[in-house]
Amino acid sequence: MKPPVVLQHPLLAQALTRLRDKSTPRAEFRRLLLECGRFLACESTRSLETRRIRVQTPLATAPGVTLRRPVILVPVLRAGLSLLDPFREILPDAAIGFVGQRRNEETLLPETYLFKVPPSKAADVFVLDPMLATGGSAISTIQGLKDQGARRIQLVCLLAAPEGIEAVSRAHPDVAITTAALDRKLNQVGYIVPGLGDAGDRCFGT
Ligand code: PRP
Ligand code: URA
Repeated sequence: MKPPVVLQHPLLAQALTRLRDKSTPRAEFRRLLLECGRFLACESTRSLETRRIRVQTPLATAPGVTLRRPVILVPVLRAGLSLLDPFREILPDAAIGFVGQRRNEETLLPETYLFKVPPSKAADVFVLDPMLATGGSAISTIQGLKDQGARRIQLVCLLAAPEGIEAVSRAHPDVAITTAALDRKLNQVGYIVPGLGDAGDRCFGT
């Protein structure tokens, strides 16, 4: 099992604090998710492999690099959409796939209502979902990607519960997890504590 990467940065910590605050209005909540997403995008893409190339500057040839593989971004609807733009900013060529997962609030099991992802066998794939609670949605999304051939998958979230990290790591030990914070626990109804509440509802409405 790979330990999750938990980002440490004072500006990220400050933005997360405002996100957790229940009095933060929707417009600011969305803006803060973008802000946090920039840190997550920078950090989680650090491990992308490159290959060496040379370019011609106006004066000479210079050594450089280019990404070894294409990238596919997969936001998990709905809340994952909030992390898409910061990733697109630094990966403008990335293809984008969409997976719709709804968590059944009684069983806490994920229900997949959309799976539309470009062929991913040769790509580096980033699954984007701000909340990793029981891990059910992430596990099901990753399994769907593997079933269509994906081999290099990373999971990027904003808040993770220890239960979710454990479940994803057990089901998919090859998948690296990057998160902005590791919270205390899940409550009886599967919410992350202290968390920030329902990310999708706070972003888009109930
Ligand atoms: C939330 C969140 C994750 C999932 C996490 O989605 O965005 O996808 O719950 O919970 P889990 O780890 O226990 O599966 P939700 O079902 O609320 O849908 P939404 O994003 O459309 O609001
Ligand atoms: N989904 C959310 O949006 N928040 C949680 O705390 C758990 C799942």
